[in-house]
Amino acid sequence: MKKIVCKNYDEMSKKGAEIILEQIKEKSDSILGLATGSTPIGLYKCLRESGADFSKVSSFNLDEYYPLKKSNDQSYQYFMNDNLFNHVTMKSNDIPNGEATDTAAECKRYDEAIEAAGGIDLQLLGLGPNGHVGFNEPDDALSVGTHVVELTQSTIDANARFFASADDVPKKAITLGLGGIMKAKKILVLASGKNKAEIVRKMFSGEVTTQVPASLLQLHPDVTVIVDEEANGDK
Ligand code: F6R
Repeated sequence: MKKIVCKNYDEMSKKGAEIILEQIKEKSDSILGLATGSTPIGLYKCLRESGADFSKVSSFNLDEYYPLKKSNDQSYQYFMNDNLFNHVTMKSNDIPNGEATDTAAECKRYDEAIEAAGGIDLQLLGLGPNGHVGFNEPDDALSVGTHVVELTQSTIDANARFFASADDVPKKAITLGLGGIMKAKKILVLASGKNKAEIVRKMFSGEVTTQVPASLLQLHPDVTVIVDEEANGDK
């Protein structure tokens, strides 16, 4: 895994956006895997302001809360519309459907849609402080395909800041599995702030464990991790 250390959040965002723009320049019909959360907000701003042509680019998002209406302002669909999709013209955007009634069918549909598109060229990831990627939470075993997951209390607490209270955070999500993430041709991880330093350290520890899902990324042949100085810790 390659690590790039940036001074601060803005530099990390700019560098991350540059890598995505480079990908699109090399392959105008790239399939991007996208993430939500606080970490990529600056990167999406850089993409919006780049003036780049996304018209042949398709995207698949990592995850969506379940159950949650797309129109809810805390849905990842809403987040993506607000941060990117309403501002740039793209060929297509897909996100797991938090309104699906048959979740097994929705998970199957999602994996098949990614496969049919030709697979993800570049997957963007943030890191949960507990090491989750997408909503693949630490556990004795991890799922390969897209699946419904029960969110851990630590993730509910970490995300409660966006909702009126922790009780309002949906208890489940639909997420791409570790198999889906690892199948991406390239992976780009962003981490910013002191509370990510420990997980960044574990990610580069040389040890792989399902109790730290992000540690599995060490098995992928093409991962770039961009951290700011705080997330880089004392190294
Ligand atoms: C978001 C996602 C999550 C976040 C992670 C970090 O689509 O899949 O894994 O990337 O929870 O969130 P932030 O960036 O808010 O610290």
